[in-house]
Amino acid sequence: MTEIPVGILGATGTVGQRFVQLLADHPWFKVTALAASERSAGQRYADACRWLLPAPMPDAARELVVRPIGSELDCRLIFSALPSKVAGPVEEEYAQAGHAVCSNAAAHRMDADVPLLIPEVNADHTALIHGQRERRGGNGFIVTSANCSTTQLALALKPLQDGFGLRALSVVTMQAISGAGYPGLPALDILGNVVPLISGEEEKMEREPLKLLGAMQGTRVIDASFVISAQCNRVPVRDGHTECVSIEFEHKPEIGDVVAALEGFRPPPEIADLPSSPAQPIHVLREPDRPQPMRDVETESGMAVTVGRVRPCPVHDVKFVVLGHNTLRGAAGGSIHSAELLVAQEWITSP
Ligand SMILES: NC(=O)c1ccc[n+]([C@@H]2O[C@H](COP(=O)([O-])OP(=O)(O)OC[C@H]3O[C@@H](n4cnc5c(N)ncnc54)[C@H](OP(=O)(O)O)[C@@H]3O)[C@@H](O)[C@H]2O)c1
Repeated sequence: MTEIPVGILGATGTVGQRFVQLLADHPWFKVTALAASERSAGQRYADACRWLLPAPMPDAARELVVRPIGSELDCRLIFSALPSKVAGPVEEEYAQAGHAVCSNAAAHRMDADVPLLIPEVNADHTALIHGQRERRGGNGFIVTSANCSTTQLALALKPLQDGFGLRALSVVTMQAISGAGYPGLPALDILGNVVPLISGEEEKMEREPLKLLGAMQGTRVIDASFVISAQCNRVPVRDGHTECVSIEFEHKPEIGDVVAALEGFRPPPEIADLPSSPAQPIHVLREPDRPQPMRDVETESGMAVTVGRVRPCPVHDVKFVVLGHNTLRGAAGGSIHSAELLVAQEWITSP
């Protein structure tokens, strides 16, 4: 396949840097354009970006000159890592201009004709793109990734919904600092502390899984009907969101059935063969004190989620802990994975 040229909006940020890193050696995509705010525009990427990742900045990105958001970009596919308040109109303009836009921002996630996509969970929701193309004309479209704490939850819920039906669930999160972007929270607000508010996050966690696990019917998605209560906390962890989940099911499973459903979950070959797909999307750990962000967040290059402490719940039926990498599976990695699916389904074709 000829490599598909891609651009990154918000390339200097926390998620943007992950895109630059993950795309440096991608077999299908080649970064040709980087864009960020007026603060960065016009500078070499190496000068504009305060690189935060442990491995060096990829050479191919260093010399690219950062473009202003909104400028014409010579690429078919655009990954967006912009703040939501900026992303809404900008992503719409790029889609209008004929680009495929894969966004990490919240702005368009709940739009009725925009797929909120996790390839293993709802690959058929890409059919919504037909509606966007009719509305806008042309080939452009927007596809979104879920909120970072929602992605790992929805992945764990998928085999449980398929196997036993979901009635209600409660989730309490312990979310990493990198989830707040850069520079994020001042050190004095988070070191040795827990902040029991992440603005807007609980609302996202209570709505997005219903769309993700909803059913494609005709030209629209009918939301799933279970109910979610979310409580979100920021904790002094660098990367990785940990979530304590308890679930009430339609059909009560044994604990062993839940474990078997989680670790036996495999997507169809159309998805399993994508370059960014983990071999096993959900790993169940048997150690009584896992998963832990420091030990488990890089499982399968940060693209798999880890589950542990699966046990009976005296209030609901079953409870467990799930951990996922917020900037890999929960942002840039997940968005690249979605773009790979869009190529496999021929919504995006190579030049
Ligand atoms: N961090 C996570 O774990 C995570 C996970 C899932 C989804 N997300 C979502 O991904 C998006 C990016 O998050 P982030 O954590 O990477 O944020 P970030 O570290 O603050 O980076 C923001 C990026 O957007 C650019 N930008 C900021 N204001 C702008 C403006 N007014 N006009 C044009 N560009 C502007 C910045 O450019 P300059 O450097 O030039 O200022 C930077 O490249 C957000 O929508 C966020 O909700 C984040």
